[in-house]
Amino acid sequence: MTLREAIAEGAGRLSSEEDLRENAQRDAELLLLHVLRATRTLLFTDSDRTVSDREFSEYNSLLERRLLGEPIQYILGEQEFYGLPLKVTSAVLIPRPETELLVEAVLARLPKDKPLRIIDVGTGSGAIALAVAKHLPLAQVIAVDLSEAALAVARENAVRLGLQEQVRFMRSDLLAEVDGETRFDAVLSNPPYIPETDRTSLHRQVREFEPGMALFAGAEGLDVYRRLIPEAAKALKPGGLLAVEIGYGQRPEIEALLHVWSEVEDLDDLQGVSRVMLARTRESNFD
Ligand SMILES: C[S@@+](CC[C@H](N)C(=O)[O-])C[C@H]1O[C@@H](n2cnc3c(N)ncnc32)[C@H](O)[C@@H]1O
Repeated sequence: MTLREAIAEGAGRLSSEEDLRENAQRDAELLLLHVLRATRTLLFTDSDRTVSDREFSEYNSLLERRLLGEPIQYILGEQEFYGLPLKVTSAVLIPRPETELLVEAVLARLPKDKPLRIIDVGTGSGAIALAVAKHLPLAQVIAVDLSEAALAVARENAVRLGLQEQVRFMRSDLLAEVDGETRFDAVLSNPPYIPETDRTSLHRQVREFEPGMALFAGAEGLDVYRRLIPEAAKALKPGGLLAVEIGYGQRPEIEALLHVWSEVEDLDDLQGVSRVMLARTRESNFD
């Protein structure tokens, strides 16, 4: 069988599942190229190349995983975030493009030439911490997560990107284990924010494969913000920056939690949904 035929067959199988149909061709290509350890160029330069039996059987087992709904990123083991190739496993949330908006907003507000102290709460794959560290070379970043398995992936990503000196990882329930003496210039977080009640309506690829600990935060999805925002207020320097990703329709509740903060802003994602909230601590309101 040739490469072209193998892709056509795989795409046909994936198309039999309604929720896989849209990306069936792309997914079949990516899975076969993964098996062949080749780039897309091969599709244009040698699509009549023969696929060996061993390669075809490996390709088939990846197709089976995809047919069961496993996200393509977990199968390939990688997702790009803010231009960085990140390893992802089922221990971490697959970093989303919406979260790049948070990184962009933070980078636009923090000085590049100062030795900042920044913390990323709920780091998952390390996406936010590593992207920010890469673009703010003088910053020292702490990245925390409750999940040891997630931290192992994040540490590996830091090493792969050569950022291990700049980003330190630790297990902590939000800011509980972080040295109380340390004050930060910025607290960043894309916390779990999906309401438990939305569990059944989630796409199966999310519900069945991404870690629940990364997704859900109580009945309304606000449990983590309710703890994180007051903790962040204590951990930040006066005038320090808080940046959090928020879920659909959560802006009024988050605004209420930020009522004693200053410079409160919200940013829309490409769908026009409020997705990121930013605020700064005041000098005096938190004691
Ligand atoms: C929505 S994911 C975000 C991952 C990553 N920051 C990103 O944007 O791709 C939330 C992360 O918070 C972690 N988490 C959940 N509850 C936590 C807690 N109480 N303390 C620290 N981390 C927590 C989860 O393990 C998960 O890695």
